Amino acid sequence: MGRVKPPPAEVQAGAPANALWGGRFAAGPAAIMRRINASIDFDKRLYAEDIAGSQAHCAMLVARRILSPEDGAAISRGLEQIRGEIERGDFAFREENEDIHLNIEARLAELIGPAAGRLHTARSRNDQVATDFRLWVRAALDRCDAAAAELQAGLLDQADAHADAVMPGFTHLQIAQPVTLGHHLLAYVEMLGRDRGRFADCRRRLNECPLGAAALAGTVFPIDRDMTAAALGFDRPAANSLDAVSDRDFAVEFLAAAALAGTHLSRLAEEIVLWTSDGFGFVALSDAFTTGSSIMPQKRNPDAAELVRAKTGRLNGSLVALLTVMKGLPLAYQKDMQEDKVPVFEAADALELCFAAAAGLVRDMRPDRERMRAAAARGYSTATDLADWLVRELGLPFRRAHHVTGAIVRRAEARGCTLADLPLAEMQAVEPAITEAVRGALTVERSVESRASYGGTAPSRVRAAISAARERYLR
Ligand code: ARG
Repeated sequence: MGRVKPPPAEVQAGAPANALWGGRFAAGPAAIMRRINASIDFDKRLYAEDIAGSQAHCAMLVARRILSPEDGAAISRGLEQIRGEIERGDFAFREENEDIHLNIEARLAELIGPAAGRLHTARSRNDQVATDFRLWVRAALDRCDAAAAELQAGLLDQADAHADAVMPGFTHLQIAQPVTLGHHLLAYVEMLGRDRGRFADCRRRLNECPLGAAALAGTVFPIDRDMTAAALGFDRPAANSLDAVSDRDFAVEFLAAAALAGTHLSRLAEEIVLWTSDGFGFVALSDAFTTGSSIMPQKRNPDAAELVRAKTGRLNGSLVALLTVMKGLPLAYQKDMQEDKVPVFEAADALELCFAAAAGLVRDMRPDRERMRAAAARGYSTATDLADWLVRELGLPFRRAHHVTGAIVRRAEARGCTLADLPLAEMQAVEPAITEAVRGALTVERSVESRASYGGTAPSRVRAAISAARERYLR
């Protein structure tokens, strides 16, 4: 019929103008406008940072005689009361007050009257939210660093207990050479060390204070930006007011570091899934870290590991979401940037959960050393040791030794035995100079012991690497 539907009643309803910024407005926003505009549902998580920022700003305004000591004291007491209300769950968050900043300011006005309105002198929500968010991400970085260190501690304890437990090392998921479980776990300690390095690096660049940039251009008031920066634990004030209110690099960097850490955790989780499967049977998990099936009574599923593996999707999604929000935004603050918080909150929650679950899984793992050793002996895993022996003892060029070894592997394959069990005559048929002494080089234990180069899998090396890693990462 082509008739345009009238807007729903809620959109037409005239609400009163916003009490905090509605001076030039005759009427309030449509309900749908209010809903899309409001961030209080998620940015209430910034309440502690918002109050800390306001306290620092208030103390600075008093010190600079922009605010009277009496008003400053009333504001400060009011803010503390609000903190208590929020923490007790007594605070009524209101959508009509948009976000955490206006919710707190409106409540402050209820508590102390018109003096509350002086707190926003020389400040804007733009520098306020940039400051709050930096403080929040900084705390999240610190929590992630501690959680990563906790996982490193778990890996190091397991590595210590199994420094000499032989297992197959894989390339292409085919048995390649014997390694030790301790050595394998130390690889993850290194990855986590780099993750922690990225957290620290992000924190260093993040740690500049936007407060005092005001809306975008700075302020006419004689503020002291060094004072507020120091009070909030920042290294210095951010140098450019336009950049200070429109930069979200710190959030992107956090998400990038989180995505990569999540990728590492997903690789560890995948190995735990493989190792606990029947085909491998390298490790068992207890009832505490597995679940049953509702139809197959015999099952024990590694759900926690699978979920750690899967959370990578959320972490990568958060990074792409924020990069996309920020792309092409002109200076300075744009409302688009309100969409920065949900991806960061979600990623931080997911990553912290994954670190904790991974630490629990690692400590729960009970390796089956016999099965791992037996698997390590399969697949002619010591063929490289044979080639190395031919080079070292007989002086063969490595390429020739490689060829000879290949022919010997073929004979073992035909007989259905391991290299260590192959009769000497069979080896000598390929290379007459081989002696019985070769056999000592072909056990999986000898194989790992002999790889004692720096960073290698020999138990002696692994034990030294564990001490060095404890020193480097957990001191
Ligand atoms: N809730 C807003 C945000 O998260 C706070 C800043 C609002 N600034 C403004 N000029 N409307 O981005």
